[in-house]
Amino acid sequence: MIDKNIKKQFKIFQQKVYGKPLRYLDNAATTQMPNDVLNEIFEYETKYRANVKRGNHYLSEKSTEIYENARKTVADFIGTNIPDELIFTSGATDSLNLIARAWGDKNISEGDIILVSEIEHHSNFIPWFELAKRKNAKLEIIKVDNDCNFLLNDLDIDFSKLKLVAFTHVSNVLGVVNNVKNIVKSIKKKCEPFDVTPRFVLDGAQSVSHFGVNVKSLGVDFLAFSGHKMCAPFGIGGLYINRDIFDEIGEYKYGGGMIDSVFLDKCKYNSKVTNRLEAGTPNVSGAVGLAAACKFLNNIGLDNIFDHEKELASIMMNKLRKINETIIYGPVDVKHKSGLITFNIGGIPPHDLATILDTEGVAIRSGHHCVMPWHMEQDLKTTARASLYLYNDEEDIDALISGIQKAKKIFKVN
Ligand SMILES: Cc1ncc(COP(=O)(O)O)c(C=O)c1O
Repeated sequence: MIDKNIKKQFKIFQQKVYGKPLRYLDNAATTQMPNDVLNEIFEYETKYRANVKRGNHYLSEKSTEIYENARKTVADFIGTNIPDELIFTSGATDSLNLIARAWGDKNISEGDIILVSEIEHHSNFIPWFELAKRKNAKLEIIKVDNDCNFLLNDLDIDFSKLKLVAFTHVSNVLGVVNNVKNIVKSIKKKCEPFDVTPRFVLDGAQSVSHFGVNVKSLGVDFLAFSGHKMCAPFGIGGLYINRDIFDEIGEYKYGGGMIDSVFLDKCKYNSKVTNRLEAGTPNVSGAVGLAAACKFLNNIGLDNIFDHEKELASIMMNKLRKINETIIYGPVDVKHKSGLITFNIGGIPPHDLATILDTEGVAIRSGHHCVMPWHMEQDLKTTARASLYLYNDEEDIDALISGIQKAKKIFKVN
């Protein structure tokens, strides 16, 4: 159970929006930061701020220790006890681009196949689209059925050429939680006759903060995620890389901190992956905030968070379905979903719906949610999305429903 007063731990909920309580249902885009996280960042910035890994004065050593401890905490949060498998990045988008450059440029060649699903966020689509273009490789697409299951048996591709598979853990448009282990297993089985093992990239932007994710048991090679979607600051995120494939990793960005030696005519890069991939001064206070967020979420309990979301998602689904003209996208059974529901109300453009809801203090998202290909396939331009997190309650859902009723009156929809 989550404490009923949890909103009190988030200062942002003390304010009113247009004189109404803030009903924040845009958590799939960004979550709010609790006081604990803000306090830890404040403590770091006011007591220990200094550049890391470079100086040998007190503050620099202390700051480096704090930064590396943050790495341990975050690594542990995603299920690895090897801190070097966790690279700090600026977020999921940065992590995915990193893989495309540092792994992709080194390992993808002409004619190779990269496989992605049709429900990927642009951040887990465009890096592969561009990698395929750079290398003259082929980008193939996994289609999904109405319940969002991957249609792996419909794939008509040359599995002997398959090098990389990238897909999302939880769809940010349909909320479906993919069965990662099964997907990995069945693709590996299709590759077996050719003695080929592709690398697997999991986009954890919508999963890591909502339920316990254990990279080791999922069997993927890479996991990308963002801090701002898990109660941490903007501009920080993580990338897990399985150490068994460290020797397949090249470079991403070039600059200070990622080198062994530099001469005017040659450069040698650091053999330690965390150093080689974190060029330049890292976002130390971001890492501190991300680690603090992991501790905060662990204290509440990831199981409690997911139970809470599911309970609210089921209430929200039932209430939305009772409204005439509601179209729900993705499965209506919340059993395999996280706490986000994408919908449309017939006769009300999603942007207008979001604007009317805003006047009631209700924040939802309207648009294509950075998943244009799926919207195009459905012949849709935009949809509305309400997404829940640990601090939401039934009153937030009631405010959403009465805001929708208000919009229906304005648009004269029954
Ligand atoms: C599934 C998914 N992947 C990737 C991203 C990109 O995350 P960021 O913008 O934090 O890099 C998002 C953001 O909405 C997402 O929902």
